[in-house]
Amino acid sequence: MSIQYFEDRKLFILSCRSVSYAFYIDRNRRAVHLHFGGKVIGETGLVEQEIRKGHSSFSPWAPGEKPEDSVDALPLEFSGFNSGDFRIHSAAVLTENGSLITDALYVSHRIFQGKEPLPGLPAAFASRTGNVETLEVTMRDTACDVEFLLRYSVFEECDVIVRSAAVRNRTASPVVIRRLMSAQLDLPHTAFDFVQLSGSWSRERHAVRTILHPGIQTIRSVRGSSGHQNSPALALCAHDATEYSGDVYGALLAYSGNFRMEVECEQYGTSRLCLGINPETFSWTLAPGETFETPEAFLTFSAEGFSGMSRNFHDFLRNHLIRGGWAEKKRPLLVNSWEAAYFDFDSEKLLGIAKSAAALGIEMLVLDDGWFGVRNDDTTSLGDWFVNREKIGDLGELVRKINALGLKFGLWFEPEMISEKSELYRKHPDWVLHEPGRRRSIGREQMVLDLSRPEVVQYLFDTIAGVLRSANIEYVKWDMNRNLTEVYSAALPPERQGEVAHRYMLGVYRLHEMLLEAFPNLLIEGCSGGGGRFDAGMLGYVPQIWCSDDTDAMERIRIQLGTSLFYPVSAMGAHVSVCPNHITGRSTPFATRGNIALSGTFGYELDLTKLSPEDRLLVREQVADYHKYHDLIANGDLHRLSDAFSVNAFDAWMYVSKDRKEALITAVCRFAEPNAGVRFVRPRGLDPETVYEVDGMRISGATLMALGLRMDLPPGDGASRLCYLKAL
Ligand code: DGJ
Repeated sequence: MSIQYFEDRKLFILSCRSVSYAFYIDRNRRAVHLHFGGKVIGETGLVEQEIRKGHSSFSPWAPGEKPEDSVDALPLEFSGFNSGDFRIHSAAVLTENGSLITDALYVSHRIFQGKEPLPGLPAAFASRTGNVETLEVTMRDTACDVEFLLRYSVFEECDVIVRSAAVRNRTASPVVIRRLMSAQLDLPHTAFDFVQLSGSWSRERHAVRTILHPGIQTIRSVRGSSGHQNSPALALCAHDATEYSGDVYGALLAYSGNFRMEVECEQYGTSRLCLGINPETFSWTLAPGETFETPEAFLTFSAEGFSGMSRNFHDFLRNHLIRGGWAEKKRPLLVNSWEAAYFDFDSEKLLGIAKSAAALGIEMLVLDDGWFGVRNDDTTSLGDWFVNREKIGDLGELVRKINALGLKFGLWFEPEMISEKSELYRKHPDWVLHEPGRRRSIGREQMVLDLSRPEVVQYLFDTIAGVLRSANIEYVKWDMNRNLTEVYSAALPPERQGEVAHRYMLGVYRLHEMLLEAFPNLLIEGCSGGGGRFDAGMLGYVPQIWCSDDTDAMERIRIQLGTSLFYPVSAMGAHVSVCPNHITGRSTPFATRGNIALSGTFGYELDLTKLSPEDRLLVREQVADYHKYHDLIANGDLHRLSDAFSVNAFDAWMYVSKDRKEALITAVCRFAEPNAGVRFVRPRGLDPETVYEVDGMRISGATLMALGLRMDLPPGDGASRLCYLKAL
C-alpha cells in the first residue's frame, strides 16, 4: 500500500520506494503539509513536529482560531487568495458577487488503486511496471459551493508523485477561475539552489543553477508554447548538492503552453513552490455543474544528487508517460532532408538520398519542409497540405519507390500555422488568432491558426489524415515555428478571451489524440524550431522531440546534458549534420558528431550523396553502433560524469543497463590542451563484484569505480570515443 490514512490524526502518508510525502488535516480542516523527502517509517513524529507557531498580528487568523493557526505561516497543500495567506497561492476564483476571495477547507477524500486519465490533457498512466495508487482530497470554499479537488498519484517504483487539481462549480451561477495551479509544495527551509533549463532558439535547455533568494524566483512562458527560453522543469537542491550527493527536489509540468513555476522564499524561513498554467494569460468561466482540470505536475525527490533525480524522471517518463510502447521500441534510424536540401529538392534528389541511405543501412527518409502548396521558401503555403506535384509528382508513387529501396518514409507538417499567401487563408481569414482592427504580428512570414476552434482542429485532422492515408507514411515531424501573439479568438465572446491560450493548447492536444487514434502506429516527432516546445506535456503524445536546430556537436553536448537532467535521452532528437555546421560554422570530426548524436534518437541531417568515402565508412560504423548500443542508451541508466552546468574542456557520460551487465562511456575533448596529463573517467552505477571486459582488460566494477578508466583520446579539438564495458 503506497497511500496510508491514519484516521486518528487525519494523517496521509504517501510512500514510494525511497521517498515519502505526508500531510494531515488539522483542527481547522486545513491540509497542512508535513514532509516531502526521504522515506519515513511509522506514523509518529510527523504531526507532532509540524511547523506551527504564533506569529505577529500581520499574519491573520480566522475567528475562533489562534495566532499559530494563521494560514500565512502554515505549510499548506492548498492556499486560496485574499484570505490571510499572502504568499504565492494555488487558486483564485471570482464568484458572482465580484469577490475573488478564495478559501477552502477539507471535506472528504478517497483513495483508489491506479490512476484516472485527464480528459483532454496529457496524463501519466499506471503500467505493468510498479504499483500506482491515487488520493483525491475534496476541499470546499468557506463561503460558496465551489469545490477544489487535490489529486496525488503515487508512482512507487519511480519515487514520483503526480499532482493535479480541479475546480468544480456547484453554485447556481458561473464562476471565473483566475488562477488554479497544478500543485503547491511548501518546504521547511530556504537553503536551496534554483535549477532551470534556460536558453534561446538554437541554444535551448542549458542547465543553470542560482541561489534561491528572498522574494519570488520564477520561470514562465507567455508565448503560447513552453518556449526555447525555459522548459517547464525546475529543481531545488541543497547548496552542497552535486551530481551524486545531496538533496534534490525535481518538478516537471506536463503542459506545453503558457506555464509558470515559481518559488517564494517567505518571511518565516520556508519556501513555497507553485506550478501550473500561467495565470498572467488565463481566466476561465466555469458554468454551474462544470469542472476544470489542471495539467499534471510531476514531483520527485532524491538524496543522491542530480543523477538520482534524473533517473527517477527518466524511468517515470519512459514507463508512465510515453505511450504506444515507443519508450522501449527502437525508432527508425532516419535521414532528414532539411539540412540536406532545405527547400531545394525534387523526387529525383530525394530518391538519390534514399538510395545512398539504403546502401548505408539507414532505415527511413524524412521529407521535411517544402513538399506542399507552392512552398519553395518560407513565405507561403502553410495550411495548404496538398502535395506540390511539380516538385515531387505523386506522393504515393514516391513513397512506393522509397519503400522499395527498403526505407520507411516520414513527412513534415506544421499543423498549427498558416501563411498569408495560402489558399486556406483566402478561404478562412478569421481562422487566424487575431483581434479585429488591431495590427497583427508576423513571425517567419506566418500566422497562427486558432486551434481553440473545434472546426479548425477538425479541418487539420481531415487534411493531415488525408495525406497520411494517401501514402505509406510511418512518421510525422510536427513543427511549430513561431510564438502566439494577439491571442484573441473570433469565435469566443469577449468575456471568454482569457481562455484562448489554454483552449489553443487543448486543441493541439486534441489533434494529437485524433491522429494517434486514427493512426495508432504512427511515430510523431515533436519540434518547434528545434526544441521550442520540449516538455513533459508533448511527451504525453510524442516519444521524441527535435532537441535543437543547433546540430553542432559541441553545442549539443551542453544542450543534451542539460536536457538530460529532466528528460530521457530516448526523447531527444539528435542527428549528424555537415561541417562547417550551418548554425555555428564550427567543424567537428565526423566520428564525434556520430558519438554525440548516438546519445539521442540518432539519424542524419545531410546530403548522403555528397559524403566522402571516409565518411561513408564512418556512417557504416555509426549505424552498427546504433544497433549495438540502442537498448543500452534508450533504456539504461544515464550517469553524467562531467558537470552539466558548465562548458567543460572534457566531458563524459555513461549508460548502464538495468541489469548492470553492460555499459557505455562517451568521452569528448572539446578543447585539446598541450601536454595534458593522463585523463581518467570514474564510471558509476556498475556492479562492484562483477568483472567487466573493457579496452582489452578485465577489471572489476569496484576497481573501475574506485580507480577509474584511463581515457586516452586522439589529438585535436572535438576528439571523442565510445568505450564499451561488458560483464564477463
Ligand atoms: C524548424 C525545424 O526545427 C527544422 O528542423 C526544420 O524542420 C525547419 N523548421 C523547416 O522549416
